[in-house]
Amino acid sequence: MARHTADTGYTSAQKFHNSDIREERGDRITLRAGTIGDALAIAEIGGSVFSATFGHSLTETDLNHYLQKSYSVEAITADMNNPLMDFVVAYNEHDRVVGFAQMTQGTSEPCVADAELPVELQRIYLHQDFHGLGIGKRLIQEIENIARSKGFITMWLGVWEENFKAQKVYQKAGYTKVGDHDFKMGYCIQTDWIMSKIL
Ligand SMILES: CC(C)(COP(=O)(O)OP(=O)(O)OC[C@H]1O[C@@H](n2cnc3c(N)ncnc32)[C@H](O)[C@@H]1OP(=O)(O)O)[C@@H](O)C(=O)NCCC(=O)NCCS
Repeated sequence: MARHTADTGYTSAQKFHNSDIREERGDRITLRAGTIGDALAIAEIGGSVFSATFGHSLTETDLNHYLQKSYSVEAITADMNNPLMDFVVAYNEHDRVVGFAQMTQGTSEPCVADAELPVELQRIYLHQDFHGLGIGKRLIQEIENIARSKGFITMWLGVWEENFKAQKVYQKAGYTKVGDHDFKMGYCIQTDWIMSKIL
């Protein structure tokens, strides 16, 4: 039986030989609210994109520990059942999830503690084959729409100081840096920029 790749459901053969995948355009991608049935796809995409983006900055042990804690199907299922968390998924015409974003209520950082009605854009992860097609921008806009509909005024987020691409994407979306946050990742101390935007 053909083995499906972890995140998009395409077979390995398709992934490397079917040009449809690389040529798939952003306008063939649709957004909808994430449901519990998306937990496996979200866990797989979150885990693989996290590893590709941040894996080099962590030891293998720390990375595996983080993936198990945050991107196991159980962990994502628990998050999806949390009424303070909202998920939006991006999916293609085959109903394969290619990315997701998550908004989380009730979290804070000192530099946004005084912000008016703040809420966090906690995660946004897109499969590598779909970067640069405007899907990240649409995911951010959709999360912002959800935040507005729930009465929030300020959207904030943390982005690793060395994640230059994501910083650019957030700046383009109207976010500005309002502070820093040092956090421990295994044995490593890393720094996030905290960015925010009035909705
Ligand atoms: C960050 C991420 C979600 C962005 O999604 P994307 O679909 O590639 O971004 P988009 O194509 O929607 O780009 C949005 C805007 O940023 C711009 N942009 C994208 N990459 C850029 C780069 N490297 N440099 C400058 N601008 C860039 C685009 O031109 C676009 O500008 P526009 O608003 O004028 O059209 C995606 O790259 C990703 O999943 N990265 C890995 C995981 C990650 O880092 N997540 C964030 C953790 S904090």
